[in-house]
Amino acid sequence: MPLMSHHEIPLSRPSVTDLELNAVIDVMRSGRLSIGPVLEQFESLVAQRCNTRHAIGCSSGTAGLHMILVALGIGPGDEVITTPFSFIASSNAILYVGAKPVFVDICPKSLNADPALIEKAVTPKTKAILAVEAFGNPMHMDTYARIAAKHEIMLIEDSCEALGSEYKGTQAGSFGRAGVFGFYPNKQITTGEGGMIVTNDDRLAEVCRSLRNQGRAAQGRGSVAGGSTGGSWLHHERLGFNYRMSEINAAIGVAQMQRLDELIKARQKVADLYTSRLLAISDLVLPTTEFNETMSWFVYVVRLAAGYTRDERDRVIQGLRMHDIGASDYFPCIHLQPIYSRAFGFRTGDFPIAESMSQRTIALPFYPGLSEREVDFVGQTLELMIAREGLNARR
Ligand SMILES: Cc1ncc(COP(=O)(O)O)c(C=O)c1O
Repeated sequence: MPLMSHHEIPLSRPSVTDLELNAVIDVMRSGRLSIGPVLEQFESLVAQRCNTRHAIGCSSGTAGLHMILVALGIGPGDEVITTPFSFIASSNAILYVGAKPVFVDICPKSLNADPALIEKAVTPKTKAILAVEAFGNPMHMDTYARIAAKHEIMLIEDSCEALGSEYKGTQAGSFGRAGVFGFYPNKQITTGEGGMIVTNDDRLAEVCRSLRNQGRAAQGRGSVAGGSTGGSWLHHERLGFNYRMSEINAAIGVAQMQRLDELIKARQKVADLYTSRLLAISDLVLPTTEFNETMSWFVYVVRLAAGYTRDERDRVIQGLRMHDIGASDYFPCIHLQPIYSRAFGFRTGDFPIAESMSQRTIALPFYPGLSEREVDFVGQTLELMIAREGLNARR
């Protein structure tokens, strides 16, 4: 059967309904566009979902990570253990505060930092583990928490890809001292741009609320948006940022939180469709989940079997794109990004498992509502491209 592409299948697409549209219109009509009740509502929905005492909305996942590190007093001379297999923001936050990211290689099954290697990397300078749930997979989070407690260091969870994931009955984001979610449009829920810190630590929550709002004291948040009421509005307790989330973004977030279970289910359905369509393709490794975890699917990332080169993988991705299929190389290793290799002298071979995984991964189009027909078309095209590369490899 010839391959037929009728329309472009993007890598991701947000799910927006009348609920989100009407919520935005309501805010626009309310006259209150920032620092208002809708953000508080969004925050309580996320806190409830994660079983945490606090949730602090902010302008992005990156901003949330930055504030957590500042609020925990991590800075120059400190080391933070983290994974090289992630989106660059998880490690950049460590650089923002002048601390040193200490990478450890990953576990090939979960693609998260290998707990045994984390333990070995702890030194007297280690202040925290910054853990990432790669592709939403919450495996090892309980072990990281135990290692952190044993060594009296902090666990910070970058759960930007993991809203709704659960491991052994605990929600992603709530394993450590603080966690953070990201709401970019490719995430499980989106606010356009946005992020949310979750924590049970009252003091940390208070400091983060102040940091996101130019260092104003907590009561400053009651002041009028867009205008000064004097007093606390122009009183700054600490060096803060403008990392606030607007009421418009928060309104989208409230609607999306109300649909979270529906969205997670829809993503699960697409993941299942992919798994059954791709299972029989040789030379392809599919993502798996463990019996004790609930995976809130962020992306569907397959990888070519061991032995395939980066060039072969890149040609498969190019082939998919030629057929109007959005595909990407999630994730190039952080330590090999020019800014990191230049600053720290990292080289190919430093973290062989992360590198070997990274050079063979292919993120496929993934979003709620992707049809069985589209999944079939992606599968068919992928099969063809792999067959082509397989022949090349054997020559
Ligand atoms: C693991 C991880 N950390 C941090 C971020 C940063 O989130 P944001 O894009 O909202 O700043 C992302 C998302 O893009 C991510 O995937």
